[in-house]
Amino acid sequence: MITFELAKEESLNNKQIKELQEEIRALAKQKNAVILSHYYQRPEVQDIADFVGDSLELSRKASQTDADIILFCGVRFMCETAKILNPTKKVLHPNPESGCPMADMITAKQVLKLKEEHPDAEVVAYVNTTAEVKAVSDVCVTSANAVKVVKKLESKKIIFIPDQALGNWVKKHVPEKEFVIWQGFCPPHFEFTARELQKLKEKYPDAKVAVHPECHPKIIEMADFVGSTSQIINYATTCDADRVIVITEVGLKHTLMKKNPNKEYIFPESMNYCGTVYCCTMKAITLPLVYKTLREEINEVILPEDIIEKARRPLERMLELS
Ligand code: 13P
Ligand code: SF4
Repeated sequence: MITFELAKEESLNNKQIKELQEEIRALAKQKNAVILSHYYQRPEVQDIADFVGDSLELSRKASQTDADIILFCGVRFMCETAKILNPTKKVLHPNPESGCPMADMITAKQVLKLKEEHPDAEVVAYVNTTAEVKAVSDVCVTSANAVKVVKKLESKKIIFIPDQALGNWVKKHVPEKEFVIWQGFCPPHFEFTARELQKLKEKYPDAKVAVHPECHPKIIEMADFVGSTSQIINYATTCDADRVIVITEVGLKHTLMKKNPNKEYIFPESMNYCGTVYCCTMKAITLPLVYKTLREEINEVILPEDIIEKARRPLERMLELS
């Protein structure tokens, strides 16, 4: 058995990574656990997952699994979503410190105040929110279905939380509705500058540009394609260009290379902070942490029952509407 002295990911050589991956897969089989991973996870973590996907696909998978344990390699709101959709299952999060800064930019109290100020509006919560915030929201959306879901709502007025970039993107595509948009943002995506993208476009004039809707509106204006991580993968691997500039978290490169290695995917990887799109909290999950969490069945996601009950409604409504 591999000992947990292998605590530092950096210190693992390829042979140790492979051994640890095999141990984790054997444990998952023995415990009837399903391992879910977001595309922004470290490549060696993505490789041990039963399923790698975007937030919408991961929510769907979490709601359908018959495994006893869901080991979720993603940030906290993703693990909470899995727990809310599967309250009787044990959901494990390899690093409880791995949260999403944007999800912490709005509280349930602030949502209740917005509802008081706009009683005729429906609250549309990006899944990147805490369980408490979902519990006071009317419907959830992900970047893959936000436009579709908002179009289907009866309400003419929408309170969109917490992401201003996705909110503005939806507003542009649903001009018939009125929007109140919370000013939250994703630090890695929103702070990537148009100047950096312009430099990449000049360096690779033949490349198409695919971006995530969490990017700043100036970046979105410069894009050939805007979509969720899975939608970017579909576009980048099948479009007619041989080179694609991809403005989202660099973890996506792993799947792109696996799906279509014949193309070149350009990610902003400069050492300048504003010139990279790197999510430190997504990367805070390491192979040794996954191993320890699964072996000892620690770091279980626990939520109050009433929050689970209330937060399930907007999530299920999203899954129905999309
Ligand atoms: P996706 O739903 O597109 O995978 O995005 C999740 C996320 O956190 C993006 O920053
Ligand atoms: Fe949150 Fe942004 Fe990281 Fe996604 S990339 S988990 S929105 S901080």
